[in-house]
Amino acid sequence: MCGVAAAAVRAVLCCVLVGSGAVRAEWKLAVHLAAIDCANENNREVCIRFAITGYPSLRFFPAFSSNDSTGENIRGFSRDVTGLRHLIIDKLESHKNPAPPACPPLETTSTQEIDSYLEESREHNHNLAVVFEEDNSYVGREVILDMLQYVNIMVRRVLRSEEELVNRLNVTEFPSVYVYNKQSNFTRLPVLRDARAFYSYALQRLPGVVREGKPYPEVTDFVRNQTEEQWIPFNKTRVYMSDLESALHYSLRVEVASHTVIKGEALTALKGYISVLDKYFPGRPPVKNALKAVNNWLKEQKKTSIMYSEFSAALNTKTTDSYLPEVVRWVGCQGSKKQYRGYPCSMWTLFHTLIIQAAEAGSKDPQEVLQAMRHYVGSFFGCRPCADHFEAMAQENMDHVTTHTVAVLWLWSRHNRVNARLAGELSEDPHFPKVQWPPPDLCPSCHTLKSNGDHAWVQNKTLAFLRNYYSAQHLSNDFLSVSVEPPVIERRKARETAPNREQEAGQEVVDEEDELNEAPQDEKSASYASPRKPSIVGLRHHQFREDIVDLDAFIIQHYKAKAPLSRRDMEDEVEPLPQSMRRTRRDLAALDAKGLALGLEVEPEPYDQSRTHWMSVLSVGFSRLDVSLCVAFYLLSVLCIATMCLYFRVKRRQRRTKLALP
Ligand SMILES: Cc1cc2nc3c(=O)[nH]c(=O)nc-3n(C[C@H](O)[C@H](O)[C@H](O)COP(=O)(O)OP(=O)(O)OC[C@H]3O[C@@H](n4cnc5c(N)ncnc54)[C@H](O)[C@@H]3O)c2cc1C
Ligand SMILES: *[C@@H]1O[C@H](CO)[C@@H](O)[C@H](O)[C@H]1NC(C)=O
Ligand SMILES: *[C@@H]1O[C@H](CO)[C@@H](O)[C@H](O)[C@H]1NC(C)=O
Ligand SMILES: *[C@@H]1O[C@H](CO)[C@@H](O)[C@H](O)[C@H]1NC(C)=O
Ligand SMILES: *[C@@H]1O[C@H](CO)[C@@H](O)[C@H](O)[C@H]1NC(C)=O
Ligand SMILES: *[C@@H]1O[C@H](CO)[C@@H](O)[C@H](O)[C@H]1NC(C)=O
Ligand SMILES: *[C@@H]1O[C@H](CO)[C@@H](O)[C@H](O)[C@H]1NC(C)=O
Repeated sequence: MCGVAAAAVRAVLCCVLVGSGAVRAEWKLAVHLAAIDCANENNREVCIRFAITGYPSLRFFPAFSSNDSTGENIRGFSRDVTGLRHLIIDKLESHKNPAPPACPPLETTSTQEIDSYLEESREHNHNLAVVFEEDNSYVGREVILDMLQYVNIMVRRVLRSEEELVNRLNVTEFPSVYVYNKQSNFTRLPVLRDARAFYSYALQRLPGVVREGKPYPEVTDFVRNQTEEQWIPFNKTRVYMSDLESALHYSLRVEVASHTVIKGEALTALKGYISVLDKYFPGRPPVKNALKAVNNWLKEQKKTSIMYSEFSAALNTKTTDSYLPEVVRWVGCQGSKKQYRGYPCSMWTLFHTLIIQAAEAGSKDPQEVLQAMRHYVGSFFGCRPCADHFEAMAQENMDHVTTHTVAVLWLWSRHNRVNARLAGELSEDPHFPKVQWPPPDLCPSCHTLKSNGDHAWVQNKTLAFLRNYYSAQHLSNDFLSVSVEPPVIERRKARETAPNREQEAGQEVVDEEDELNEAPQDEKSASYASPRKPSIVGLRHHQFREDIVDLDAFIIQHYKAKAPLSRRDMEDEVEPLPQSMRRTRRDLAALDAKGLALGLEVEPEPYDQSRTHWMSVLSVGFSRLDVSLCVAFYLLSVLCIATMCLYFRVKRRQRRTKLALP
């Protein structure tokens, strides 16, 4: 009913929430966005209070607005992403003095300021990035906002008219970025394209630059002591069979084992999962045989429920040419610390691999792998919030998937959405920051620019990249464990013929007897061959589902235990805004018949039932407005957004550097 307007809303969300298309709300420190649906009875009070008469409308609340302010009503605003982003920047710049202390320094910088900064900061070792641009360009200001949450970097914009500096550095292209640090002096930042998204991505990856609150990744993170498994240097352009086999072992022998009796939906899910593994798992022959055997066994089961022990017996029936290794060895999914990555990483890898194999095999049902994943995750995946999020994404538009191409891209784009949501979270391994994947250095041709300079994916190149990256031929068998070479009888022969590489990799050979005697669902056995246990953050081998610590809960506990909540953290906790977005964006996705056409760039989050909750929290937020500052409401009959700018936090470093560059 409001398709056009909806597209406009979608655009707004992209801009503010997705930022460069590579990150979650990077502008959050400066700008908050809220949406209110004034067609909803529950919101009436607030809509009356702000005297909203027409939809859509946009309100802007500058910093230090009084709590009874109704904001500045903005008329005739642009309905596209870029326009709204620019509008927000203009509004931020329009602050009269005194500007809130944490306001980002969006103004232009003179040669003298740069020089005096360099003079004063000789002893500092952080990076200064200078965006050279034309007067009317927004690139510099957008990059400044993108980098707001990062430390050890400061971004300033210098206009082309600043001839002294431009000539000194021999700057010939506008925009372009030069980075100064003690070692490099000024050097041009190498990027794929001279555009905001690529600048932000490259700057965020400079040595020393980290998201505020994240520890700087230390090289010593990889130095393992003797009781821990050694770090395996691996090639980031490869997918490792060792990760896939470890995923199978952990999922079938540990995760599924938490169900003593498997029946109903769980049984259907298990059958679907095993069937897809049997058909598409591009494994070593014995593993494929084992999967086939267990699939055949499952198909014969006509009962409405089976015991895990029966399943396990079928799974663990070993012959010389049919067995599933009982080892967990993460390679591409290694984390720098043991609480990071591992199993969840390997599950993504597994399903991307399976879906590519299904596409290559031209299976009849393009949704087959997605459905298997959805049901497996729904019934068994130990991280329950993950399962809920995934189910919400599946409900949104998975049924629009009608071809293999769309299926592959659907999983890729949903995975990126999860990456965007989790970027900067505590579960993120500082050595493996969540990025929109594949990043420009992994697949340059996957990225392009729209005519307005915004980032866009080249879908067909991305598809080609995925097909190669996750193809069976491209899988690496390096670091596969020797400990699961053929059982006893074959052992000697196998040892004699085992490739040297595997022995050099220093894998220990586990005694076959031990291996056979271990009951796999026993906690000890699952880890006996795995010096590094499989891990979801905080989760090891739990026997019962109720015991499983989910990622979110764990993170919160961990967080609270580790550090007293700062004001910003508390803000984050009560932060009401994303929930409203969820509703909005879900509806948008539903409106989007193809689901994918527009959806790939957008980052909707799952629908959250507690929609009304946030409005009340928002008013709490208002009365707590020692924090806040600018809010804009954007209202629409069904879909509404409001923007709120919060300069609630003084980033110390930023402040200091701001002083240095008056
Ligand atoms: C179904 C599912 C839902 C999850 N939901 C949540 C959740 O709600 N909350 C939570 O905290 N954690 C969730 N997780 C875990 C989280 O997504 C990560 O798996 C975990 O944080 C480990 O991250 P990672 O850095 O190893 O990279 P992962 O995101 O696990 O990615 C693994 C590898 O896949 C490749 N890759 C990355 N992005 C893409 C892409 N878009 N397309 C193709 N390949 C890609 C990269 O090589 C990467 O190293 C979920 C996991 C799964 C399997
Ligand atoms: C505004 O703040 C004052 C005191 O700070 C409070 O008494 C009043 O109720 C607030 N008004 C609203 C609308 O929250
Ligand atoms: C400046 O750049 C131009 C072209 O990029 C090059 O020809 C010239 O030598 C450069 N001058 C200096 C001083 O580096
Ligand atoms: C850095 O570059 C400037 C201008 O190009 C030059 O004058 C200065 O000597 C350089 N400093 C170092 C340490 O290389
Ligand atoms: C080695 O690592 C283990 C497991 O992380 C830890 O318990 C142990 O204290 C470490 N030992 C040393 C000497 O660091
Ligand atoms: C990583 O693998 C690619 C092939 O996918 C290869 O071209 C590259 O040289 C490898 N890099 C290293 C460091 O081994
Ligand atoms: C990829 O898509 C672009 C347009 O989106 C098209 O111009 C190009 O020919 C396509 N390339 C391939 C290999 O299909």
